Amino acid sequence: MRSDVRDLGLADEGDRKIEWADRQMPVLAGIRERFAAERPFDGWRISACLHVTAETANLMRTLVAGGADAVLCSSNPLSTQDDVAASLVAHHGIPVYAIKGEDRDTYYGHIGTALDHRPHVTMDDGADLVTALHTQRRELLDAIVGGTEETTTGVIRLRAMAAAGKLAFPVVAVNEALTKHLFDNRYGTGQSAIDGILRATNVLFAGKSVVVGGYGWVGRGIAARADGMGANVTVVEVDPIRALEAVMDGFRVMNASSAASIGEIFISATGNLNVFGGHHFGLMRDGVILANAGHFNDEFELASLEAQAVSVRDVRPSTREYAMDDGRRIYLLAEGRLVNLGAAEGHPSLVMDMSFANQALGLEWLRDQRASLEPRVHGIPDDIDREVARLKLASMGIDIDAMTPEQKVYSESWESGT
Ligand code: NAD
Ligand code: ADE
Repeated sequence: MRSDVRDLGLADEGDRKIEWADRQMPVLAGIRERFAAERPFDGWRISACLHVTAETANLMRTLVAGGADAVLCSSNPLSTQDDVAASLVAHHGIPVYAIKGEDRDTYYGHIGTALDHRPHVTMDDGADLVTALHTQRRELLDAIVGGTEETTTGVIRLRAMAAAGKLAFPVVAVNEALTKHLFDNRYGTGQSAIDGILRATNVLFAGKSVVVGGYGWVGRGIAARADGMGANVTVVEVDPIRALEAVMDGFRVMNASSAASIGEIFISATGNLNVFGGHHFGLMRDGVILANAGHFNDEFELASLEAQAVSVRDVRPSTREYAMDDGRRIYLLAEGRLVNLGAAEGHPSLVMDMSFANQALGLEWLRDQRASLEPRVHGIPDDIDREVARLKLASMGIDIDAMTPEQKVYSESWESGT
């Protein structure tokens, strides 16, 4: 079988990780069991470009159980878990093209190889696969039925493609499901971004001045968790409503230049570029830590950081020191890439259970609806979203009430008042 992974000898270790994750992914496991019986993806080739983690391995197992002929490449050069990649190849017979720390050429080479699979369906996290398909491999477009997209940045890119009339097939925006972004982006990144910072640096959050860039779903989660650990959190935003929300959630809000001079740890989560740029680095204190949780490694202006530094060295795994000519040092984590996946293991499995249940059910919905779907971005239908929440609650042993018939009539009526 064709594959490109670090070391197949890591497969047993990876398999134990996949099994551990699976125990915390009961919703996906239930879907896998049904798919194995119903085989909804028989005859479908899938090319997936996702973070190669234990949780993704369980999604891939689910697709294959449903009949898909699937291959996987990584959606980030630094997020691959090499042992998991090896296990997918050696134990699960799924071709994987991903090596942690791969360079840019290898990263895009792996996307190209995943496209050589001639997919009927794409699965993306950030839209790099779909972009490569539309720019370099257009001969494959005719066979494509549709795709799915996992994250906010990917959805933004795909909407831009659709608005420009360039998107050639329908894409299901998994990120739009409430059971995805409310939990994955907020609680998942809230915990795992801090996990990445701790694994890389082992610093104490209590009493630290933490600056969070962006108060969207990811930023809210990070701010809440940093606050819970005793940090003094400052938020930087460009959207006045979200900035106001941060104020009323109890955080200090200021512009990036003011925040640059008071922060000790900067965590960016905007999906935008150069949020902290060249002039901010000059204002920062000695010893500041820069960590990015947004999709791409452009939230800190890295070229400027490199240019301003008089020397650069790695001081710990995932921690690079940039020495400035005035003696200050700035520490960049995970090369400015997603800190939760570059320096830690990404979101906990329990939260990925919901994200990937939406991936699996979203794909099944795409299969059922494909004849009527226009080539644009489609949200996850509400009934799928609610079903994922219902299954998740059930897996947690939590029972909730249903409205009585009387309450249902009342909640839909307008006649009765005080
Ligand atoms: P979001 O749209 O909910 O929030 C982004 C926020 O950033 C918005 O409030 C926006 O106003 C703000 N913003 C934009 N430009 C800014 C700037 N220059 N300065 C300050 N604030 C700015 O998006 P989200 O769902 O929170 O996702 C944010 C990023 O995180 C995206 O790139 C997304 O793909 C990524 N993401 C990463 C993970 C992960 O595992 N690390 C998980 C989910 C999402
Ligand atoms: N994105 C964030 N965390 C992840 C994980 N554990 N697996 C796959 N994608 C992720």
